[in-house]
Amino acid sequence: METVGVVGLGIMGAGIVEVFARAGLRVVGVDVDEAAVGRGRGHLELSTGRAVDRGRLAAEERAAILDRITLTPDRGALADVDLVVEAVPEVMELKRALFADLDRICKPSAVLATNTSSLSVTTIAAGTSRPSQVVGMHFFNPAPVMKLVEVVTTVLTADGLAARIADLAVRLGKTPITVGDRAGFVANRLLLGYLNHACRLLGEGVSGRDDIDVAMREGAGLPMGPFQLLDLIGLDTAYEICEVLFHETKDRRHAPSPLLRELVAAGRRGRKTGEGFYARTETPTLLDEGPKVAVTSVGIVGPHPEHLLERLDAAGFKATAGDIPDDADVVLAICPPPVVEAAVRLPHPDRVVGLHLAGDRVGEVASTVLTAPEVAAAARDLVRVVGRVPVACADRAGFVVDALLLPYLNDAVRMVESGYASFADVDTAMKLGCGYPQGPFKMLERLGLETVRDGLRALYAEYREPSFAPAPLLERLVAAGVRSTGDLTPNR
Ligand code: 3HC
Repeated sequence: METVGVVGLGIMGAGIVEVFARAGLRVVGVDVDEAAVGRGRGHLELSTGRAVDRGRLAAEERAAILDRITLTPDRGALADVDLVVEAVPEVMELKRALFADLDRICKPSAVLATNTSSLSVTTIAAGTSRPSQVVGMHFFNPAPVMKLVEVVTTVLTADGLAARIADLAVRLGKTPITVGDRAGFVANRLLLGYLNHACRLLGEGVSGRDDIDVAMREGAGLPMGPFQLLDLIGLDTAYEICEVLFHETKDRRHAPSPLLRELVAAGRRGRKTGEGFYARTETPTLLDEGPKVAVTSVGIVGPHPEHLLERLDAAGFKATAGDIPDDADVVLAICPPPVVEAAVRLPHPDRVVGLHLAGDRVGEVASTVLTAPEVAAAARDLVRVVGRVPVACADRAGFVVDALLLPYLNDAVRMVESGYASFADVDTAMKLGCGYPQGPFKMLERLGLETVRDGLRALYAEYREPSFAPAPLLERLVAAGVRSTGDLTPNR
């Protein structure tokens, strides 16, 4: 394949054009009119210009890349290309109409690919006269950066085509995984359940926008918080993917959160419209203003208080573990929710907060229904004293990090259990498609399968959400004493 076409020159389409042109292919980029083509040109100039500014691309190389690209509103220019990748909005009727047109315009040997995030590739393929030459070629945003390409095959796909597209992806410097045609494929199916759940936690007041983003970035080690990522993906796109996922899975966690719907209806669609959860230049910021109690004496309840005691002592506080003195100004209860059950057994329940150390950098500070706000604020300062970033949240199962991370890990196990994808492909998808430092199975291994299973049981007990119940395969792995999924095969 030497000449390719890309239809739709939004951020994703323009990124795909750049990827092809950087790999030395000639690209014809098409959009509906001159204005849309101009916007696409703008994306390309900005992205390649930034690479030159950062010293990642020589000015001559940039010129050569741009020279390989032809942008036009005329679909007829696609008549001789070997492959077309479609990247238009996620509306089935739009895609079906476009593919009917491409089928008519493109030479008979051309492969037609869709970059759909979640729509049925089979339905798109079936609407053409060449269904065996239609595949999914799913890139990740920002396309020039993220290394994953999901190659989606259908029951109609010709033998050998997936391998050809996978080879092409390798030529583009990407890592392909080949998957079947299920809503959300691998990465979006896992990612959107998590992002939508973050919207629900925010909507239900379990924690704040910036707190949740900081918790997931600093506490779970993800490259972006969920709301920053939703702004990058586009809230309308995320909404549509959730709709399609819910339609297929009937899992309530995929039903688009009311908050997402409200923002989309309000036109706040994320970076593409300048504002989504955040305004364009805004970043997550934890402001901790307001009154705080003065703290001299700190009590610590729960296991392994030594490190905290040492740090607080060194900072000049009178810190006590075990028998909490009556005069403790703040009590840090390291215990699972409901923390309030521990609080009511202490002399001053209003002075008690839950504390959960998430990863190496975050301390989640949970206010119970009895905690005084001035105490919670002072507790967050204590978390800073012990060298962590404090995240404020409510006294709910899993606080923030585990409430978001553990169901995602469980979903990954279910995906393998259903035979849809292998452990290795799922890990690759999340690392290379979403920039996660580890795939879910490496993460499971690090956290401990039993710990994750127990956390899920607690989440299920509180929320009664069926998909929070530990996946049967996870239960079996724990029962078998398996610590690493590395040596296992699916569906054992
Ligand atoms: N276009 C081109 N290049 C970009 C870019 C863009 N929009 N944004 C960032 N980059 C490049 C930068 O130029 C830089 O390159 P360099 O190292 O060669 O100089 C590199 O990416 C890192 O950028 P920054 O230093 O500015 O920023 P970060 O280190 O914070 O990384 C990020 C930015 C790569 C976006 C990182 O935060 C990340 O991996 N985030 C997760 C993104 C993600 O999950 N994407 C998938 C979303 S789901 C999806 O797309 C599927 C769809 O169907 C919905």
